Amino acid sequence: MADTVPMPRVLGIESSCDETGVALVHIQNGVPRLLSHTLHSQVAMHQAYGGVVPELASRDHIQRVLPLVLEVLARSGQEMADLDVIAYTRGPGLAGALLVGAGVACALGYALAKPVLGVHHLEGHLLSPFLSAEAPRFPFVALLVSGGHTQLMHVRGVGHYKLLGETIDDAAGEAFDKTAKMLGLGYPGGPALARLAEQGDPRGFDLPRPLLRSGTLDFSFAGLKTAVAVQLQRLGNAPCEQARIDLAAATQAAIVDVLVSKCLRALDVTGERRLVVSGGVGANRRLREQLDQACAVRGVRVHYPELELCTDNGAMIALAAAMRLDAGRAQATFDYAFDVKPRWDLAAL
Ligand code: KG4
Ligand code: ZN
Repeated sequence: MADTVPMPRVLGIESSCDETGVALVHIQNGVPRLLSHTLHSQVAMHQAYGGVVPELASRDHIQRVLPLVLEVLARSGQEMADLDVIAYTRGPGLAGALLVGAGVACALGYALAKPVLGVHHLEGHLLSPFLSAEAPRFPFVALLVSGGHTQLMHVRGVGHYKLLGETIDDAAGEAFDKTAKMLGLGYPGGPALARLAEQGDPRGFDLPRPLLRSGTLDFSFAGLKTAVAVQLQRLGNAPCEQARIDLAAATQAAIVDVLVSKCLRALDVTGERRLVVSGGVGANRRLREQLDQACAVRGVRVHYPELELCTDNGAMIALAAAMRLDAGRAQATFDYAFDVKPRWDLAAL
């Protein structure tokens, strides 16, 4: 490890899964500002396979990252030389995809003689509401709901994360994606299922609310897809359109009910009055409506990232790095020997 330079203009590169995101964040007097960001989604490429193909994802990131870096600089009127720190997603995620972002970030850092910093993807999600118009204040309870994770955290400050509960099997996003697949909806399933559910009756099917009354803050969503499979079996080979729509609505309602109930419990347990919701499932309209309603009654403020920053993006990576540096919780280094962490526990940060 060599010298460290805590500085404010951070370029962030996200490449952990199927989005290549690049952004520039400036932090001044503790207030982060997004100077520009850009994103390339691989959804169209993976759609033909019904899910993310890791090798294709890595190859596509390779082609996209540098042009996106140039685009972000051009949009913000900055030059390479104006960058102070280059941040990248170090994990968790697909190993090959992570290596692309890490490799490019470290090569750029070396070429420009700028320090680099690898950050945690979920910390990016968790802090992303700090880029919204009404940013939260610490401390708060955070619900992290993405394709791979469902966690409740007690957040006291940057880097002070205590795990309150998490899924013991499938993540909430995974539950959306898997049931969407069973209903014949494409990839990515979450938004497609949510769209279909808009016109359905959530009480049309009786689906379980796993671990709802377990007394813990853990989640379990694997049983839900079995319950949906049983309902589909009962409906026969070709369920009518209304049955599919109602089943989508009932699935969404079951997932949302559990998420809302556990959030309220986490607020009770910690005594906090603020809730932050982030990760791809945080874009779900029913979840937002139900949480807003339940929290308003209790005088709890709910913060979300801007809708376009709910799913993976470079802004949250630049932000997490900038906030870590600003809080003195990390050091960007001139050591360009990088590694990635496909599995990485946020609470262990
Ligand atoms: O945070 P994210 O972009 O990637 C991960 O880090 O996993 O989250 C992606 C997940 C997917 O499972 C996707 O289906 C889900 O978020 N998702 C949604 C919605 N938008 C994205 N789930 C339900 N409703 C949505 N509107
Ligand atoms: Zn994510």
